[in-house]
Amino acid sequence: MIAAKHNPLAASLDTQLLRAQLELKNRALASSAEGITIADAGLPDNPLIYANAGFERLTGYSVAEVIGRNCRFLQGPGTDPETVAVLRTAIQNRTAVTVTLLNHRKDGTPFWNRLSITPVRDAEGAVTHFIGVQSDVTEEKLAKDALQEANERLEAASRVMKRDLAAAAEVQRSLLPVEMPHVSGMRFAYRFRPCGDVGGDCLNVLPLDGRRLGVYILDVSGHGVAAALLSVTLSHVLSVVPGRSFLYQPCPENPGQDCIAPPVQVVTRLNRHFAKATAVSQFFTMIYGILDTETAQFRYVSAGHLSPVHFRGGVARPIPEAGGIPVGLFPEATYREESITLSKGDRLYFCTDGILEAENPAEEAFGVDRMLEILTRNQDALLEGTLSSLMQCVDDWAAAAGPADDASLLAIERNW
Ligand SMILES: Cc1cc2nc3c(=O)[nH]c(=O)nc-3n(C[C@H](O)[C@H](O)[C@H](O)COP(=O)(O)O)c2cc1C
Repeated sequence: MIAAKHNPLAASLDTQLLRAQLELKNRALASSAEGITIADAGLPDNPLIYANAGFERLTGYSVAEVIGRNCRFLQGPGTDPETVAVLRTAIQNRTAVTVTLLNHRKDGTPFWNRLSITPVRDAEGAVTHFIGVQSDVTEEKLAKDALQEANERLEAASRVMKRDLAAAAEVQRSLLPVEMPHVSGMRFAYRFRPCGDVGGDCLNVLPLDGRRLGVYILDVSGHGVAAALLSVTLSHVLSVVPGRSFLYQPCPENPGQDCIAPPVQVVTRLNRHFAKATAVSQFFTMIYGILDTETAQFRYVSAGHLSPVHFRGGVARPIPEAGGIPVGLFPEATYREESITLSKGDRLYFCTDGILEAENPAEEAFGVDRMLEILTRNQDALLEGTLSSLMQCVDDWAAAAGPADDASLLAIERNW
């Protein structure tokens, strides 16, 4: 700056410069789109000593109407007292504060005001003024509120859905065998692990009469609620409750009486019945068989299901003949019966896709070979233990990737 002390011309130039700077600041404040207000912190109740044109536009009040008043005149019905208390405390403590609160224009219309108040200090650090900046954030606030409301509704719906899913999972678990039948010389075991809350796998071993057992494992396409609903329906029609069970059929020789239906009949009937389910594009693979506990012969039908694994003499290998068309795809599909007779020490394992197709984080499938190796390695364990080891290995394999499909195992052992 020019040395003004001894030079009147320089002093006059200094004054002109200061005035120009002040005018520039005034113009800047006046042309701001935001409301800008200054309150005198030295006077009782912090009256406004300045308000810009932006404040006039925002509130509808003229500068003349507001000078000398505390800015709380913008508050009214709907203004949150807790937010006002936040302002009061900040002003008392001489600290900066930003809040969003409901204010009212001169004509009474409400608007959401994002208000920032900053204390202004003199050279000694004493607060002399407060500067307030007001912005109309009504649209933003309403959009945010609507979003929050939608989110809350969504969360509430999701809570209901989770509760329903948990209840559905409970229903599904209640349909699993509580315990496997006790048959001397035979042992049965299973493991079931749905990938979500509910699953599309289903299995059971059911006493059909004093000598024969119905054995099934099935895997409904997909997983989740739709798959679980179908699997629950299937566990009903595959129950031993007389009248509605597909496991029995009217006796040709004894009219009015039910006989055990051969596996081909059961699967063919299921296929005709559930071909209708393709309207919701659902189908299922299954193995259904009848085990004669006296001869240890297992007569079964595979409908597109994974081959059972036969363990004999220290070697586990998939039975190659199994095949067939999944149930629910073609109403005219036909099925063929297979049969295997278990010798002492033999084991028969059944599994669903979730076992073989479990992928590790590198997207490598668990696969048959790994399963056969584990079944062989655990051949001396109790049947339950072998299944637990296999399931554990599958879960460890998927590890961080988590299970992508339901996984089930069912096994029969002859030990006489
Ligand atoms: C500079 C300045 C601007 C203010 N602007 C507003 C405003 O736009 N709207 C509002 O509701 N309150 C505003 N206030 C806050 C009120 O004036 C007052 O401080 C607040 O209501 C808390 O005090 P009270 O409990 O005594 O009312 C402003 C305060 C200051 C210091």
